[in-house]
Amino acid sequence: MNFSGLVLLFIVYFSIAPEVPVIDQAYSKLSNSITVEWADVAGATSYQVIAQAGTLFFESTVTGSPGTVTGLQAATTYKITVRSINSAGKSQPSPPKWAKTVLAAASVTVESFSSDSVSVGWQPVPSAVLYSVSVMRSDGSGTRWNQNTTSLSLNFTSLDPGTIYTIKVHAWDANGIPGDDITYSQITRPAAPSDVQITFNSGALEATFFVAEADGLSNYTILLYGGDTSINCTLSVSPCTITSLQCGTEYVVSLLANNEAGSTLAPKTWSLLSVPCAPIGIAVVEDNPGNLTVSWSHGNLSDYYVVFVKSDDGFEVHCNTSQSPCYFPSECGFIYFMSVFAYNKAGQSPLGELLNYTTAPCCPSDITPAFVSGDTLEIVWSGVRGAEMYETKAVDGTTVILCNDTATVCALSGLQCNTQYNVTVFSYSENRGSNTSCASKYMKTAPCSPEIKNITTVDVSSFMVIWESDNDGAEYTVTARGENGLWNCTSSGTSCILGKLPCGSMHMVHVLASTSEGTSLPSYSVPLETAPCCPVNISVVQVTQSVTNVSWSIAVGAQTYTTMLESPKGQAKCHTLEDHCLLGCITCGTSYSVSLEAVSETGLVSQCTYHGYSSSACCPSGVKLYRLSNSGIRVTWRVSPGPENYTVNIYGSKGNFTCSPFPGVSYCDVTEIPCGDVYTVVVSPVSGGDTQISFCPKKNIFCDMLRKFSWNG
Ligand SMILES: *[C@@H]1O[C@H](CO)[C@@H](O)[C@H](O)[C@H]1NC(C)=O
Ligand SMILES: *[C@@H]1O[C@H](CO)[C@@H](O)[C@H](O)[C@H]1NC(C)=O
Ligand SMILES: *[C@@H]1O[C@H](CO)[C@@H](O)[C@H](O)[C@H]1NC(C)=O
Ligand SMILES: *[C@@H]1O[C@H](CO)[C@@H](O)[C@H](O)[C@H]1NC(C)=O
Ligand SMILES: *[C@@H]1O[C@H](CO)[C@@H](O)[C@H](O)[C@H]1NC(C)=O
Ligand SMILES: *[C@@H]1O[C@H](CO)[C@@H](O)[C@H](O)[C@H]1NC(C)=O
Ligand SMILES: *[C@@H]1O[C@H](CO)[C@@H](O)[C@H](O)[C@H]1NC(C)=O
Ligand SMILES: *[C@@H]1O[C@H](CO)[C@@H](O)[C@H](O)[C@H]1NC(C)=O
Ligand SMILES: *[C@@H]1O[C@H](CO)[C@@H](O)[C@H](O)[C@H]1NC(C)=O
Ligand SMILES: *[C@@H]1O[C@H](CO)[C@@H](O)[C@H](O)[C@H]1NC(C)=O
Ligand SMILES: *[C@@H]1O[C@H](CO)[C@@H](O)[C@H](O)[C@H]1NC(C)=O
Ligand SMILES: *[C@@H]1O[C@H](CO)[C@@H](O)[C@H](O)[C@H]1NC(C)=O
Repeated sequence: MNFSGLVLLFIVYFSIAPEVPVIDQAYSKLSNSITVEWADVAGATSYQVIAQAGTLFFESTVTGSPGTVTGLQAATTYKITVRSINSAGKSQPSPPKWAKTVLAAASVTVESFSSDSVSVGWQPVPSAVLYSVSVMRSDGSGTRWNQNTTSLSLNFTSLDPGTIYTIKVHAWDANGIPGDDITYSQITRPAAPSDVQITFNSGALEATFFVAEADGLSNYTILLYGGDTSINCTLSVSPCTITSLQCGTEYVVSLLANNEAGSTLAPKTWSLLSVPCAPIGIAVVEDNPGNLTVSWSHGNLSDYYVVFVKSDDGFEVHCNTSQSPCYFPSECGFIYFMSVFAYNKAGQSPLGELLNYTTAPCCPSDITPAFVSGDTLEIVWSGVRGAEMYETKAVDGTTVILCNDTATVCALSGLQCNTQYNVTVFSYSENRGSNTSCASKYMKTAPCSPEIKNITTVDVSSFMVIWESDNDGAEYTVTARGENGLWNCTSSGTSCILGKLPCGSMHMVHVLASTSEGTSLPSYSVPLETAPCCPVNISVVQVTQSVTNVSWSIAVGAQTYTTMLESPKGQAKCHTLEDHCLLGCITCGTSYSVSLEAVSETGLVSQCTYHGYSSSACCPSGVKLYRLSNSGIRVTWRVSPGPENYTVNIYGSKGNFTCSPFPGVSYCDVTEIPCGDVYTVVVSPVSGGDTQISFCPKKNIFCDMLRKFSWNG
C-alpha cells in the first residue's frame, strides 16, 4: 500500500511522460498468461503491462504490442492496464480491460490395464465444465479418438496392443474456452502371448522356454507353479532356462508378456511334467536261492519302472514294470548291482541308489577223494565262484570233524577206519556267510587192518592164513615176502591158501584189506618158514661090502641131514652137518630104500625119498688057484647066495685076463698067462648089467720064468 502511494507521487512528479496507450484487446491462451494488444504511442520506448487481481499485481515490460503477462493464476479475471514509458517517465495507465486466464491443465494419470485399452483419469480442474480427451497412435497412423466428458476418467478400447499412444486432455470452462492442454504417451500392454515352446532336459532337470512371437519390444516372464513353490524366468528374443527343477513334480506354466505398461497373461497355461524322482526304499532279498526280489516305493508321477541288474561278469538284465517288485534269476557267487529308474513321458528319473547284492558262494560239486586211508580222507574239489573259504564237515553220526581252508583241498584226519562219513563242503564268503545249501556226500574210510590169527600148513608148499577182521565187503590180499619174491592169495572171507611157496625160505606174511574206497594199513607181519628143500642129487656108493658112502647136494634151508637106508633086514642111518656120510652094516645083495631128512635150523623137517638102492652082490668066498699047465691057472670059489654069474679078472703089467664061467659054475680057467710078473686075481659077482664090483678080495700070484706059479694066500 505504501509502495503504491509512492508510485502515484512519482507519476505526478514526471508529468512530461508519453501519451497513455489504449488497449485493443486482452485475452488468455494459456492459463498462466494474458496477452494484451494496443496501439503504439508516439514517443514511447517501452510499455509496462500490468495485470491486477485484487491486491495482486503482475507486470511485464515489453517494447511494443502485444505484450504478455505471465505467472498468473488460471481461471482468474485480471484487470489489465498498459503504461507507455520513455526517458521522461511513464504515462498514466491505460483504461483497464478485463481478461480471464483459461483453465489449467488437468493432473492426469494414464494407464493401460489391458493390451487394447488405456484408461485416462484426472483430477477435477476448478471451473471446468467439460473435459476433452484425444487418443491416437503416436506414430500418427490410425484413428484419432476424441471424446468429451464431464466425468473424471475415460477408457479407450479397441486399441492396438503394445503400441504407444499419445493422449491429450484439456478442460473447458463455462464459456467454452479450452484450458491448457496436457499430453501423455502411454503404451498399451502387450498382446497376450499365444504360445511358448518348452524344452525339457530330463538329465539336468532344467527347462528352456522360448517364445516364438517375441519381437524384442516386450519381454516375457515364465511362471512355474509346482508343489508349493513358484519359479520364474524372463526372456525376450533369446530363450530362458530354469534350472534346478524338482523331480516328480507337475508344473503349471503361465506366460506373461511384459512392457512398461504392465503384463498380459496368456489366456491359457501349459503343463510341464518333470521326470519322476529316483525311486527310494530299494531293497533286495533272495527269498529262494536263485530268485532275487528287488522292491522299491512307488514314486509320484512315475508311469513305469525299469530295474537294471548287472552282474560282476558284465552281464546285464532289466525288468520293465509298472509296479514293484521285479524278480531276477540269480546265480551263486556273483555280485549284482541294481539300479531302479522311474519313467514318465518326460523321461527317466535321475540315478538313485545303486545297490549291490552278493549271492551266496557256489557249492563245490565235484568233491572227490584224493587219498583215502583208514584214518584219513583227503578230499579235493574245484574252486567255485564267490567262495573265499571252504568249511569241510564230516559227520559219522556222533563225532563231527571240521576243517576250514581257503584251498580247495582238505585232509580230514583222525577218522575211524571202515566208517561212513557224511561229508559236506560249505563255501563261505565274507558277505553272505556259509552257503548252507551245499549237498553232502557219503564217503567211507578205508577198511581197518586185519589181524593174522594163525597160519597152518596145508602141505609142504601151501599154507592157510587165517585172519580176523570186521570190515564190510572188503577183499583181502595175503602177501608173503620171501628172499626170492612175493607170493599172494586173495579172498573175501577170513582165510586163504598161499600156495607154491618155495622150500627152505623165510617169509613175512601180512594181510591187506581193500575196498573200492581204499586199502587198509597192512596187518602186523607174521613170519612163515617153509621146510628145507630136498637135495636135488643124492648118490649112494658102496665102498666095501658093508660100507656105503652116501653123498648129496646141498639143500636150501637145511642145516643137518639124516640119511637112512632101510631094508627088511635092518637099517643104516647117519645124522650129519655134512653133505655126505658113510653108512656101515650094509648087507650085500640087499635092496634098501634111501631116504633123507633135511632139517632146518629151527627144526623144520623135510622128508625126501629117492630111488631105492640095492647093495652089491656078495663076493665069493674060498677062492683058490690051481696051476693047470705052464701057462694056465684055474680059479675056484665057493658061491655065495644070490649071484648066479661071476667074473674072474686077472691083472698084471703084461696083460689083463678075464674069464666068465657059465652060470652056476664055480671055477674058471685062464690059460696063456705070460710069466715073469705078479698078477692080481679077483673073483667078482656079476650083478645085473655091467656093473663091476671092485671091492671083492684079491689074491696075488707070481709066475716066474720057470713057469711056476706061487701065491700067497
Ligand atoms: C467437444 O466440445 C467442444 C466445445 O463444446 C466442441 O467444440 C467439440 O466439437 C466437442 N467434441 C466432440 C467430439 O463432441
Ligand atoms: C475404465 O476402466 C477401469 C479399469 O478397467 C474401470 O475401473 C473404470 O470404471 C472404467 N471407467 C469407465 C468410465 O468406464
Ligand atoms: C520371479 O522370481 C524372483 C526371485 O525369486 C521374485 O523376486 C519375483 O517376484 C518373481 N517374479 C514373478 C513375476 O513372480
Ligand atoms: C522386462 O520388461 C520390463 C518392462 O519393460 C522391465 O521393467 C524389465 O526390467 C524387463 N526385464 C528384463 C529382464 O528385461
Ligand atoms: C521268484 O519268486 C516269485 C515269488 O515267490 C515268483 O513269482 C517268481 O516266479 C520267481 N521267479 C523265478 C525266476 O523263479
Ligand atoms: C556294496 O554296498 C555296500 C553298502 O551299500 C558298500 O559298502 C560296498 O562297497 C558295495 N560293494 C561294491 C562292490 O560296490
Ligand atoms: C570255520 O569257519 C567258520 C566261519 O568262520 C567258523 O564258524 C568255524 O568255527 C570255523 N571252524 C574252524 C574249525 O575253525
Ligand atoms: C549230512 O550232513 C548235512 C550237513 O551236516 C546234513 O544237512 C544232511 O542232512 C546229512 N545227511 C544225512 C543223511 O544225515
Ligand atoms: C592154528 O590152527 C591149528 C589147526 O587148525 C590149531 O591146531 C592151532 O591151535 C591154531 N593155533 C592158534 C594159535 O589158534
Ligand atoms: C599176486 O601174484 C600174482 C602172480 O605173481 C601177481 O600177478 C599179482 O599181481 C599179485 N597180486 C598182488 C596183489 O600182489
Ligand atoms: C648069467 O650068464 C648067462 C649067460 O651069459 C646069462 O644068460 C644069465 O642071465 C646070467 N645071469 C645073471 C643073474 O646075470
Ligand atoms: C690091465 O688092467 C689094469 C686095470 O684095469 C689096467 O690098468 C692095465 O692097463 C691093463 N693092461 C693091459 C695090457 O690091458
